[in-house]
Amino acid sequence: MTLMPKKSNDSLIQMTELVLPNDTNTFGNLMGGRLMYWMDIASALAAMKHCAAPTVTASVDNISFENPIKLGNVVHIEAKVTRAFNTSMEVHMKVWGEDPVQQSRYKSNEAFMTFVALDPNGNSRPVPAVIPETEEEKLLFEGAMRRRQLRLVLSGRMKPQDASELKALFYDQL
Ligand SMILES: CC(C)(COP(=O)(O)OP(=O)(O)OC[C@H]1O[C@@H](n2cnc3c(N)ncnc32)[C@H](O)[C@@H]1OP(=O)(O)O)[C@@H](O)C(=O)NCCC(=O)NCCS
Repeated sequence: MTLMPKKSNDSLIQMTELVLPNDTNTFGNLMGGRLMYWMDIASALAAMKHCAAPTVTASVDNISFENPIKLGNVVHIEAKVTRAFNTSMEVHMKVWGEDPVQQSRYKSNEAFMTFVALDPNGNSRPVPAVIPETEEEKLLFEGAMRRRQLRLVLSGRMKPQDASELKALFYDQL
């Protein structure tokens, strides 16, 4: 069965949360773990929207927290599927904090997570391809193969010598 490709933007999820006392660390800032929990949910929703099936988180890429998000501030998460492979999808997220009184936004982080679609028996199942439209979506789509190879190498699922896209990145510079 051939699945109809879907636009990247059709998977867009926008999540908004308010940082309450129970979400903070001892410095009064949002805890990294709580933010990652929200990011996992937002990106899972984007993946499910794309493939219309239940999904599981297969991997989480490096996350660097650029700015702390303060108690009483708002968290905005945007998640979108950048590229689908066979049964897995890469989701890109952008995260901002917002001071609701000043109405100013500041960047918190960007991240990638990978999800696998499951059939009713819990086995991985094929997902529709992604159609990137904007310049940003096209760049993310293009880089997705390299990021996939990197995470498969790091998880021991691919031999470094087989990571052709990654190798090209380095050897083309020589
Ligand atoms: C992720 C999972 C479904 C992969 O199952 P599997 O039997 O190893 O399946 P496969 O080898 O057929 O891989 C399925 C897809 O997952 C991808 N995948 C597996 N591990 C991956 C990883 N660490 N990073 C990125 N992609 C990964 C494979 O590349 C493959 O993608 P493709 O079909 O698009 O090429 C399985 O390991 C699992 O259920 N893990 C636990 C998930 C979970 O519980 N998450 C919540 C956090 S605790």
